[in-house]
Amino acid sequence: MIKLLLSFLLLIGLVAAQSVQFQADISNRTEWDHYWERCVGSGHAWLGTRQDWRDALKIAREKLGFERVRFHGIFDDDMNIYNVDSNGTAIYNWYNLDYVYDYIVSLGMAPYVELSFMPTAMASGNATIFHYKGNITPPKDYSLWADLITNFLEHYIGRYGLDIVKGWFFETWNEPNCGFWSGTIPEYFQLLQVTSDAVKAVHPDLMVGGPATCQSQYLPETLEFVKANNVALDFISTHEYPTDIEPVTRNVMFNVLTKSRDIVGPDMPLIYSEYNDGLYAQSMHDNIYASAFAVFNIIDVYGIADIFSWWTFSDVFEEQGQQSQIFNQGFGLQTIYNIPKPSFKAFELLHETGDERASVTGDINHPTAGILVTHRHDEIMVLVYNHNIPGAPISTETISITLDNVPSTRQAQATLRRIDEYNCNPYATWQEMGSPWYPTEKQLEQLYLSASFNETSISYTQSSATSIQFQLPIPPQGVAAIKLKI
Ligand SMILES: *[C@@H]1O[C@H](CO)[C@@H](O)[C@H](O)[C@H]1NC(C)=O
Ligand SMILES: *[C@@H]1O[C@H](CO)[C@@H](O)[C@H](O)[C@H]1NC(C)=O
Ligand SMILES: *[C@@H]1O[C@H](CO)[C@@H](O)[C@H](O)[C@H]1NC(C)=O
Ligand SMILES: *[C@@H]1O[C@H](CO)[C@@H](O)[C@H](O)[C@H]1NC(C)=O
Repeated sequence: MIKLLLSFLLLIGLVAAQSVQFQADISNRTEWDHYWERCVGSGHAWLGTRQDWRDALKIAREKLGFERVRFHGIFDDDMNIYNVDSNGTAIYNWYNLDYVYDYIVSLGMAPYVELSFMPTAMASGNATIFHYKGNITPPKDYSLWADLITNFLEHYIGRYGLDIVKGWFFETWNEPNCGFWSGTIPEYFQLLQVTSDAVKAVHPDLMVGGPATCQSQYLPETLEFVKANNVALDFISTHEYPTDIEPVTRNVMFNVLTKSRDIVGPDMPLIYSEYNDGLYAQSMHDNIYASAFAVFNIIDVYGIADIFSWWTFSDVFEEQGQQSQIFNQGFGLQTIYNIPKPSFKAFELLHETGDERASVTGDINHPTAGILVTHRHDEIMVLVYNHNIPGAPISTETISITLDNVPSTRQAQATLRRIDEYNCNPYATWQEMGSPWYPTEKQLEQLYLSASFNETSISYTQSSATSIQFQLPIPPQGVAAIKLKI
């Protein structure tokens, strides 16, 4: 008998050792701020005149809750905002930009304003970037740039009111250290100073920042410059793509953001105005990898940056010219034709998380698996992920989750949704179709369907009136969401 009991205990012990264990205390909660929804990226301003861009932004707003959209090139020649007459007098023309901003505002969103690039008529040179030829040279006269900023701000304060425009961020240029600025870094700092002075002269409450650098660079230099020159700076912004970092580790974003936070200190708003699972190298933006990356990192870097803006919401994007192949590893959360990628589905689940987060104990230092448990009204949401960087060890994990102090477990309904190789994976469906370059209407319908959640019910056990246990396997780079109505 004792022998039997022992082997029974041993068996339980073995099963327990094989699964990853988490316990959440639903009565012990702290704020869960949806900081990743404050902004999302897009290509350049002119795209905002396109219907497909507009449709995709509306979907991203409605399903993912993004509050702002950031893009390059509001001052590019294609927006036709600045010309000079034969006497050399400036002619400002805001019609095209109004058309874009009015749409954004009509969705209940705001532009996150990147002040770029240089109108040819005030440029010091001819160097351009990308298919759309944004002029990346310093102004031939910085006072022309200052006048442009003044006129721009006065126009939009006149159009929407100071109270609205006070909520906008005005970011000076884009990645002056990574090919978007033909001048030197000191010349960029001059632009920052002229921009800040112009913004503050219009109204001291308007928020201006920079340096919008790539690879989290030039943050100490920027802070030194603004201090030494008495330049008003309301926020520090920068970018990070994990494929730019050597060596890549699973928590590389956490390490980089923590370092940036240490540099800027606790009080200065820190904005990551671009990131994604990678830049061009080893792109996996269309794959389930991007979904697990987003869920893991948004939970992992919580509380460090004030804004964390995924680049971009759609593959209506044309830095290398608009691509026509539906799956082209573009940065977007949606493909052209608005098929939601796994990354989109991850942001959809994240958007549904509550506004409070329950404390979690157990295997919280597991090398690949983790959970987030949130609460709102009568709903508990458990997000589960199994993520590691490319080439690093990862296997299917059985996750055991105990929810303690659940207010009422009577007739609780639990549903399960998954994102993994077999769920919400339209890229795989497309490959099974033979990767049609231009899918037919019917194929698009099928792709859209394969990107939908297959919501099923999930059973649980109860060890007490206030305690619930779930167990579920999560494959590599898989994400799952359990929603419990209480
Ligand atoms: C340029 O200035 C002259 C002299 O003041 C004026 O007659 C003319 O109308 C101006 N041209 C434009 C385009 O404003
Ligand atoms: C731009 O290029 C044209 C043609 O090469 C040249 O004539 C002009 O001087 C250049 N402009 C500037 C501002 O460098
Ligand atoms: C609540 O959770 C925090 C961690 O989030 C923990 O430090 C604290 O001890 C918990 N409080 C109780 C009463 O369990
Ligand atoms: C949905 O999930 C259930 C349970 O796993 C499965 O039986 C069913 O085939 C799935 N349906 C689709 C459309 O994938």
